[in-house]
Amino acid sequence: MSPTYSRRAVLAGTGAAAAAAALSGCEVARTADAPPSGTSLGRTGDVPVGGGHVLSDLDVVVTQPEAGTFKAFSALCTHRGCRVDEVSDGEIVCPCHVSRFAITDGSVTFGPADQPLPAFKLKVSGDEIVVA
Ligand code: FES
Repeated sequence: MSPTYSRRAVLAGTGAAAAAAALSGCEVARTADAPPSGTSLGRTGDVPVGGGHVLSDLDVVVTQPEAGTFKAFSALCTHRGCRVDEVSDGEIVCPCHVSRFAITDGSVTFGPADQPLPAFKLKVSGDEIVVA
């Protein structure tokens, strides 16, 4: 005999799952598309060598693995979509379940994420970094 569930119980369960996700800080189903070409990603001098910073309003993380080499990645974690919020010790860190990604190529260095952060093409124009 299979169990039966009332419609109300199922809806209540769905609401509980959504509330749990909200409380955990996880956000789901945002896109990781690059901003439009030409969008400014800031000044080269604002990105520390061997580190980077998160542009929350654009959902982009910009890194400088080596002096003069800049990279841009989606700031939305590939695990469950939280925004990464820190770059430290050569890694991009997600606050939700502590996945870590390499600043060189966005690859996963520590799970639970199992997919890299998507990379965005950029160019440097003078001292400004822009989306290519
Ligand atoms: S959303 Fe789970 S580690 Fe980033």
